[in-house]
Amino acid sequence: MSSQATPIPMSARRRGPLKGTAAVPGDKSISHRALIFGAMAVGETKITGLLEGEDVLDTARAMQALGASVTREGAGEWTVHGVGVGGFSEPETVIDCGNSGTGVRLIMGAVATHDFCTTFTGDGSLRKRPMARVTDPLALFGARAVGRSGGRLPLTLVGAADPVPVDYMTPVPSAQVKSAVLLAGLNAPGRTVVTEREPTRDHTERMLTGFGAEVVTETTPEGFHRITLIGRPELVPQEVAVPRDPSSAAFPVAAALIVGGSDILVPGVSQNPTRNGLYTTLVEMGADIAFENPREEGGEPVADLRVRASALRGIEVPPDRAASMIDEYPILSVIAACAEGTTVMRGVKELRVKESDRIDAMARGLEACGVAVEEEEDTLVVHGCGPDGVKGGAVCATRLDHRIAMSFLVLGMAAREQVSVDDGGPIATSFPTFEKLMTGLGADVSRDN
Ligand code: S3P
Repeated sequence: MSSQATPIPMSARRRGPLKGTAAVPGDKSISHRALIFGAMAVGETKITGLLEGEDVLDTARAMQALGASVTREGAGEWTVHGVGVGGFSEPETVIDCGNSGTGVRLIMGAVATHDFCTTFTGDGSLRKRPMARVTDPLALFGARAVGRSGGRLPLTLVGAADPVPVDYMTPVPSAQVKSAVLLAGLNAPGRTVVTEREPTRDHTERMLTGFGAEVVTETTPEGFHRITLIGRPELVPQEVAVPRDPSSAAFPVAAALIVGGSDILVPGVSQNPTRNGLYTTLVEMGADIAFENPREEGGEPVADLRVRASALRGIEVPPDRAASMIDEYPILSVIAACAEGTTVMRGVKELRVKESDRIDAMARGLEACGVAVEEEEDTLVVHGCGPDGVKGGAVCATRLDHRIAMSFLVLGMAAREQVSVDDGGPIATSFPTFEKLMTGLGADVSRDN
């Protein structure tokens, strides 16, 4: 997403119940990794179900700039001719990762142990986000970063000519940081070790194992998660079937729960325990969700979700669940606004460094829609208005953040008055079919003229 893009104001209004099947796009985290690991394998990786959102397309372009060949064969079908571990070549121009924190941080890891120089930039949102959390551990491999104050983009990474392996404890719960270290470790000799206090999404570990790397995950005596990677493997090209994105599925699921009389099917939603915290939370709130046809797809456990409108009650979400639902707090706070009682979300300060400060963005927008909220550095509290209680009638600022835009549009489907967003453009980063899919279920959501 370019920060220069013209804003696309959008609105959503109440209409009848939502019905039908919501086939959400491919998983964003897995799509980025399929392209990057494919580019680091020797030979042709075939990907189906790739998310063709702006974030992932930026990563595809970056892989080409680094010397891999990436071709779109059809809808969601891509091939990547990889150059092998250590085979990237210096890009001739700046790598623009658009809106994508995952893209930029993983690619920084991938180039950090190559003996060349890469300059990264991104849109107005990405240029505000902290990069030192990645460049600090990459410096331990021997890479050097020169960026704006606070380690912000644009930033140039001078890769290590003679990388050494690293043993690193992540200071924040972040799969992006963990993955950047593991990606750098691929082209360092010996064992690279990452330890995290609490488990974050494990797609890198699962997929690297699938591509033939030796990756071992164990629990330490303190209860931490330790991942060990043996460097300089030969990655073997794969056929990757990308499962549907549980974070995107959260939007039609939420809409069906809060729009009276709704009954929808959301097929193939990941039940990976490092990603499914929202679904556990919703069941605790009283949501009527049936997990049908559990199976494995693309190496991930998935199920079809049958979701019916439900009377929901507020709960306390345990802080140790935060990592497994970190992207779902914006839509959870919309669901909480439509529930009876109070929902308390603690341990959520990482939300402040996402595509926007998501605690602040949700708090301000919910208040404008007549919902009482309380906010602390690490906590968001939403006082539910009940199923018919949210007033709406506001224009909410989306701050270049796709999940903020979709969350407020879902709120508009249940609120008494229309809810608008100042810019729905960022939705294309992760869920380009959102408007069409929601309209197909019977929702009234559209671009303003
Ligand atoms: C992601 C990790 C998470 C998440 C992001 C995708 C990934 O970020 O918010 O949308 O694919 O590794 P953090 O690792 O910074 O928590």
